[in-house]
Amino acid sequence: MFRTLTLFAALLVAAAASAVELSESQRAAIEERIAPMGEVCLQGDSSCGGPAVAASSGPRSGKEVFDAACMACHTTGAGGAPVLGDVDAWAPRIAKGMDTLHKHGLEGIPGTGMMAKGGCVNCSDDEVIAAVDYMVEGSQ
Ligand code: HEC
Repeated sequence: MFRTLTLFAALLVAAAASAVELSESQRAAIEERIAPMGEVCLQGDSSCGGPAVAASSGPRSGKEVFDAACMACHTTGAGGAPVLGDVDAWAPRIAKGMDTLHKHGLEGIPGTGMMAKGGCVNCSDDEVIAAVDYMVEGSQ
């Protein structure tokens, strides 16, 4: 019993020692990885910045919004999502007209994986429209 405890303590010390050997950047990377999701972040607090709270720094480009909020489905085809660059998949959609595509980008398509704003709750309408334009431009 005592021996097991000693071994356990030795392992703990070893683990602690190796933790100390982390470089500052490794430590920062780990802290970022284990940071709680949806952490409350007050506007103006630069210590918890990140893409999700960057909304105050002006509208994001279509590409930025796409990379952050749309690519999970629109580069994989998840749930039947038309993939960026897939001309055949986009042609019949583009034929519906940009107004329809913008509307579906903003409101989603009920009964499909396409949620309102693609699920991007912190995207402005203009940002979503820019992302739709970006996808259409890259798919024809
Ligand atoms: C969870 C997956 C998912 C995400 C995230 C997602 N989409 Fe979609 N999207 C879909 C699916 C699935 C469809 C195809 C729906 C259908 O027509 O059956 C679609 C279709 C579309 C269409 C075509 C609409 C039409 O009328 O044909 C547009 C435009 C679009 N998405 C824009 C976006 C934008 C912009 C974002 C990011 C802000 C986004 N989507 C994020 C799943 C997603």
